[in-house]
Amino acid sequence: MPLKRMMPLIVLLMLVSISLVSAQEDLPPLRELADLNDFYIGAAARADNINTPAYAETLAGEFNMLTPENEAKFCELQPQQGSFDFDELDRLVDFAAENNMVVRGHTLLWHRCNPDWLLNGAFSREEAIDIMREHIFTVMQRYQGRIAIWDVVNEAVNEDGNLRNTIWLQWIGEEYIDLAFQFAREADPDALLFYNDYDGEGRSNKANAIYELVAGMVERGIPLDGVGLQMHIELGETEAYQAVNTTNLTNNLTRLGELGLQVQITEMDVYYEGEATEEVFDRQAGDYYRVLQTCLNHEACTALAIWGVHDQVSWLRQEEHSENTDVEPLIFDGKYQPKPAYFALLDVLARAAGAAPVLSDEVATAYADGAILREIVIPEPTLSNEAQLAPDAVHGVAYYAPFPVFIELDGDLADWENVPRVSMGDTSEDANTESVTFAAAADDTNFYFMANVRDSNLVYGVYEPLNEWYKEDSVEFYLNTTDNLFATRYSTGIAQIGVLAANIENPEETIFGGYNGADVNVTAVAVETEDGYIIEAAVPLENDVWTITPANGQILGFQVHLNGATSAEDSQTTKLIWSAADADDQSWRNPSVFGRLIFWEVNSQ
Ligand code: XIL
Repeated sequence: MPLKRMMPLIVLLMLVSISLVSAQEDLPPLRELADLNDFYIGAAARADNINTPAYAETLAGEFNMLTPENEAKFCELQPQQGSFDFDELDRLVDFAAENNMVVRGHTLLWHRCNPDWLLNGAFSREEAIDIMREHIFTVMQRYQGRIAIWDVVNEAVNEDGNLRNTIWLQWIGEEYIDLAFQFAREADPDALLFYNDYDGEGRSNKANAIYELVAGMVERGIPLDGVGLQMHIELGETEAYQAVNTTNLTNNLTRLGELGLQVQITEMDVYYEGEATEEVFDRQAGDYYRVLQTCLNHEACTALAIWGVHDQVSWLRQEEHSENTDVEPLIFDGKYQPKPAYFALLDVLARAAGAAPVLSDEVATAYADGAILREIVIPEPTLSNEAQLAPDAVHGVAYYAPFPVFIELDGDLADWENVPRVSMGDTSEDANTESVTFAAAADDTNFYFMANVRDSNLVYGVYEPLNEWYKEDSVEFYLNTTDNLFATRYSTGIAQIGVLAANIENPEETIFGGYNGADVNVTAVAVETEDGYIIEAAVPLENDVWTITPANGQILGFQVHLNGATSAEDSQTTKLIWSAADADDQSWRNPSVFGRLIFWEVNSQ
């Protein structure tokens, strides 16, 4: 049975992913590890939901801090002037007290959730100040000793750095913020008073404006204890994503800390467009990991709260707040099952407390480094054609490279017969777009790679020097021969090898590019064909970058790209990427997104 030999390998890979989940039962809850770190881990909660047993259990079991999601907002508490309704907030505050949780009161003044009487009223400056004082005093004094932390003012700064044009600004002027904090301190001298906002996490304009605002308050002696960074972020390289750039976040924590302020992450969730996939959840876990780790490493940062207990009740599933109303942005799924992000937070807290880690060092490091990490589970190999020298490739995931297979670099593909092929792009007869079919193999001296490219318009010999080689027609193959297939940076043992169509005109000397590409001693030929070009390349198994000794079942990181230019000016108009983990064309700098190559010994099967 030729495929039998693969079994131990497959079982091993399955175990890696299962072990994460099966340990779950014995793991301590988040709040236990947070206590050991003297840290608050919180969730936004809704009074309507606390009668649902699973909700109550998760909320009280996992978190030592609770934020009323809406119940402490102005429109909820004072729907009519002078007439307060505390029922819902009472239920949450009682729940918190019963379960020994700290409450973050959210929020006294905001531009949203204001009752009609307030929004439509015509108040003089004095009247407005009285309304503000009365609201702050009534609410804070009722909950004195039970709500320990208050977001006194929420979202007062615009993206452009100016103060937002709210009713309070219109009626009272800029001083409304200082006054609100002064009233709050008077009302409950023991409560911690926070200014809270979004998109202020890193070093954006808005973050700088928030810093200036609170620095001014501190200088004027206004009673302010901390800044809340909401941390509503999105996967991908958006402006908000810069928040998860841990350097920016650390710098921001440092400058806020130097003002004598605490910082709390107050409303974290991680949004994305498109489908929820395992990869999305892993990347999400990485974002949670880095934010908590950065916060916990910084003495100024004292809490992290998540904006909702589980995915189904996230505010981002409400149409008015989100384009993707199926989004799953939190750490528990709709069935209260912990997601990778949950284990990520648990691992950060465990390691910081000196308790047993929850994740392997490999996974933890990948999360911390921002690797796009997936435990790649390789499905059982199949052989669709008996003559084929190795099992079928699994698209975007695994390529089985037969060895020993000797290949002559002559532009003739006859010696590649029966080596498994992979195609990218539309390879059908009548397609007029670019496509590529590739294969790989090895013997006892070389690793071989072949690409047959369909391209009606060859563009090469344009870019000199060749540091912009990828802008012309070229094929890239990548190998990670190290023990760490989750490595996020290039090192010895990892190379990107770009082979250019320009070799068509240059048979004497190979024209190549790529990270560590100069040190692997690649030899290549390229020949023009009727509908494009063929590349054949050989890389010694032993060179300055690596020593590869092919063994049956041995796994390397592996990736293939096709770069197709339309003209000298229009480069990479075609970009085909094999590894499914590399959604954003990151292989040139982050080897953790490679797929897998598995060596398959021909004679022993
Ligand atoms: C949101 C709630 O989650 C929603 O249920 C409600 O419809 C609108 O407000 N920033 C904040 C929070 O400070 O108060 C917001 O909460 C989310 C954005």
